[in-house]
Amino acid sequence: MSTTYGSTYMPQDVPGPQARALIERDGQVLAPVGRVYPLVVDHAAGCEVWDVDGQRYLDMNAGIAVLAAGHCHPRLTKVATEQLNRFTHMAGTDFYNAPMVQAAEKLVGLMPTTHDWQVFFTNSGTEAVEASIKLARYVTKRQNIIAFYGAFHGRSYGSLALTASKPRQREGFFPMLPGSFHALYPNCGRCPLNLRHPDCALACLDFIENTLFRCTTPPAEVAAIILEPIQGEGGYVVPPLGALAKLREICDRHGILLICDEVQSGVGRTGKMWAFEHEGIVPDIVASAKGLGGGLPIGAMIARRELASRWEPGAHGNTYGGHGVTCAVTHELLCMVEEELMANAARVGSYLMERLSALQSRFPVIGAVRGRGLMIGVEFIEPTTGAPAGALANEIMVESFRKGLLVLTCGNSTIRFCPPLIITTAQADEAVERFALAIGAVSG
Ligand SMILES: Cc1ncc(COP(=O)(O)O)c(C=O)c1O
Repeated sequence: MSTTYGSTYMPQDVPGPQARALIERDGQVLAPVGRVYPLVVDHAAGCEVWDVDGQRYLDMNAGIAVLAAGHCHPRLTKVATEQLNRFTHMAGTDFYNAPMVQAAEKLVGLMPTTHDWQVFFTNSGTEAVEASIKLARYVTKRQNIIAFYGAFHGRSYGSLALTASKPRQREGFFPMLPGSFHALYPNCGRCPLNLRHPDCALACLDFIENTLFRCTTPPAEVAAIILEPIQGEGGYVVPPLGALAKLREICDRHGILLICDEVQSGVGRTGKMWAFEHEGIVPDIVASAKGLGGGLPIGAMIARRELASRWEPGAHGNTYGGHGVTCAVTHELLCMVEEELMANAARVGSYLMERLSALQSRFPVIGAVRGRGLMIGVEFIEPTTGAPAGALANEIMVESFRKGLLVLTCGNSTIRFCPPLIITTAQADEAVERFALAIGAVSG
């Protein structure tokens, strides 16, 4: 099958008959979690997806920032097949295996050289966050964790208590994990204090010492501060330079650990291995997942060795962490990130950012285009008031699908671009053209 139809190709009659039939069966047997549009995938390759009716789409979602090497990359498929034929699973918490060690060696080799690091493998992002906060409590003997408004850290109870991007994610699930607090994320586009950077001197972060430490939690009882170096589900919000350094200082002053949740922003997506590297700081613990497995489910907590090595045998564990096949693929994927993907994310990312930014002059409904590398958000606004235009962003997302482009919203009114890190400039061009057609069709 041809891998490109050119930018003039458009899907017809979406969803088609095969898709409609499968959606009907899905509704009978799968718990309703709310799909965003009626895409029913049949097969995929690189940055392209075909549905069950043979319609072709350009994929700017990558399975929600997962498929770093694109769909079905032959290098990963080969490694996975070989490993499937050697052994699949040995329970990495209880037994040794070479792919797990190899993947961990590669991963610590991609961490800052300022410290030695150790890895605990999980199967998802939320579990990597759970492992991180459990380790922080375990080693500090303190209970409280501070996260940020707008954050998304997962949906299991520990991480859900730190997640604060949409009330819907918590509705019906209270009470949350005790000891969870929230601070103001440095979001200069929509400053929580209505101030202007840099005149504000990052006053939002002073809230931690001036308010939280004075009114709700003594710093001596705070185990960790956790943040996304770029907020993902909260709207692809990039904090101003200096914010992470200021947080690092606050942590150091009070003996608090700094956890960076790099589940969405890590593994080369922003043009560096980890998004915190743009800020020149080093966290104590990093939570990773998504891109790390190249499409297979894996997560990792990576912590300074002097912290991670303090877990006693049996203190933490799981069944599938260190899975033979996922670790073999992770090792190969990390080699690719180092060799080419990170550099491509930086190069095509700045090209895509430029092209998307250029749309602003054509469409006043675009309020901002922001991001780093291939983690780019396009925020939609009500042009007269500047208010977030959430319904419009949703309509544009669905119209993009009809125009053969897969994108997804995040935050209140932002559409994210988080394509495979193998994307070419030609594919970036095609994505922007289709996106412009969708915006034009919806906003006139
Ligand atoms: C920053 C961040 N942390 C944690 C998670 C949770 O990851 P998972 O869905 O794999 O549990 C996500 C998922 O979107 C995320 O974006």
